[in-house]
Amino acid sequence: MGARLQALAAAVEPGARVADIGTDHGRLLALLRRSRAVAVAIGIDRSAAALARATAVRSDPGIELRRGDGLAPLRPGEVDTVVIAGMGARAMIGALERGAARWPELTRLILQPASQWPALRAWIAARRFALRHEAIVWERDQPHLLCVVEPVRAGADPGWSDDDLALGPLLRHRPQDPGYRAWLERRRCALAAALAEAACTGAAAEHARRDHARVLAALAAGAG
Ligand SMILES: C[S@@+](CC[C@H](N)C(=O)[O-])C[C@H]1O[C@@H](n2cnc3c(N)ncnc32)[C@H](O)[C@@H]1O
Repeated sequence: MGARLQALAAAVEPGARVADIGTDHGRLLALLRRSRAVAVAIGIDRSAAALARATAVRSDPGIELRRGDGLAPLRPGEVDTVVIAGMGARAMIGALERGAARWPELTRLILQPASQWPALRAWIAARRFALRHEAIVWERDQPHLLCVVEPVRAGADPGWSDDDLALGPLLRHRPQDPGYRAWLERRRCALAAALAEAACTGAAAEHARRDHARVLAALAAGAG
């Protein structure tokens, strides 16, 4: 089992009642059932074809598969933990917003956006949820962001800056974290390459220059 799914599973508290939204192959739930004591394991996917692929969990009576959109197939109070992994942040936010009626019952959201990381952070801040943990997990030379969020009611505005949104409000305070540093280095190379291209002009170039300076400063903060 890869490092990404291992990290997601490790973020689930023992005894949790878990729904894995966009479960697809169902491998996270299979791993949770094998390695940890979860009280409830429900896999949801809107695609019948995806659920048909979930052969790893079909024969496990402790895992229930349901077809539907986001949190909609969940009954009130059924789960306390929601995992959403491997979809873009905007799709993830859409699914969570449509399922807002379930939020008061949840103690933990475990989110692994496939793209648009700053958009997910901006949503967490706008909802005044508490970001409890943030990590970058590498698998097959690809970085994956992992966020553990507590959907607290009436939480405080975290007041995150543009640097927080771009780099990670918790990650940037761990400048020597190896996963984070490797991601910064990857980003530095990508931005330097983009800036070297003749086609990179105007607002795009300005944006890339700002990002590049931010990444250099973050790397310098963790040097030595
Ligand atoms: C790339 S797969 C990710 C599979 C798995 N979660 C992982 O991290 O390896 C994304 C899955 O999310 C499902 N999906 C996308 N939007 C969804 C939604 N709103 N509700 C339920 N499932 C959704 C897709 O059908 C697809 O099976």
